[in-house]
Amino acid sequence: MSEQKVWVVAESGSHKERAEQVAARLNLRCILAQESSCSNFVPLWLWVGKKGIGLKAAADQQANPVIVDFISGAMGYRKQHLSFKNELIAKAIAIKSSLKLQIVDATAGFGRDAFVLASLGCKVRMLERNPLVALMLEDGMARAQYDVDCRPTIDRMRLYLEDSKIYLSRIEGEDLPDVIYLDPMFPPRRKAAKVKKEMQLLHLLLEKPDSQEGLLSLAREKAVRKVVVKRPRHAPFLDDQQPNYQVEGKSSRYDIYLTV
Ligand SMILES: C[S@@+](CC[C@H](N)C(=O)[O-])C[C@H]1O[C@@H](n2cnc3c(N)ncnc32)[C@H](O)[C@@H]1O
Repeated sequence: MSEQKVWVVAESGSHKERAEQVAARLNLRCILAQESSCSNFVPLWLWVGKKGIGLKAAADQQANPVIVDFISGAMGYRKQHLSFKNELIAKAIAIKSSLKLQIVDATAGFGRDAFVLASLGCKVRMLERNPLVALMLEDGMARAQYDVDCRPTIDRMRLYLEDSKIYLSRIEGEDLPDVIYLDPMFPPRRKAAKVKKEMQLLHLLLEKPDSQEGLLSLAREKAVRKVVVKRPRHAPFLDDQQPNYQVEGKSSRYDIYLTV
């Protein structure tokens, strides 16, 4: 990861040791928040503090860092109101409680979709190739393990720091999942204010839209039942491949490719 782009910032002296471990793992520079004036040289901070490990823009120093939070906030609310009926993703994957589906989320990101799928009873293997994103997700999962309501869901989620093309090429037989789920990054919309803060930070971190050449074709070879691709509502099909059918929401849609 580029040293020029992200520094690890410890919220206080008591977080310095943890911050240094994180910095060593990611091969990044580590500083204390009090020294933060010099970190204007980099656009992003990986903040290590009392709430967890989060990302914030150096230009927006007063903002709370974006952390992976399955317990409270938007995800906590979504979990409380979760049902097969009101989650479009459940409709797209056609989850029924009787089917204990095995899912590979090949573009895990901050794990929100994976968490919804696991909350609905699926076993989800999450693949994330960016080490910083994977570390934030691992941190969010570790905190959620201590929450009695979240723990059974987290127990159904496994995180792999790996490129999903490499992982999918390797698996065979019983390891093949029922469903492969793809939610690749899409270039930011022009009305930037409408893009959620965590997505803005992800775009800043990952810079280029994901190169996904061949991922959909490989997923179609490896999924036992179907591949589900999340797209912005008016975006072209991934790799120009026409799905069997679609499930449409207000701002996004799911393209479904049957493999049976
Ligand atoms: C739009 S985000 C996914 C958001 C996620 N669905 C959620 O609910 O938080 C896309 C993520 O996929 C990851 N990614 C893209 N291509 C990948 C690949 N081939 N293997 C593993 N991860 C990949 C990117 O690093 C990025 O973090």
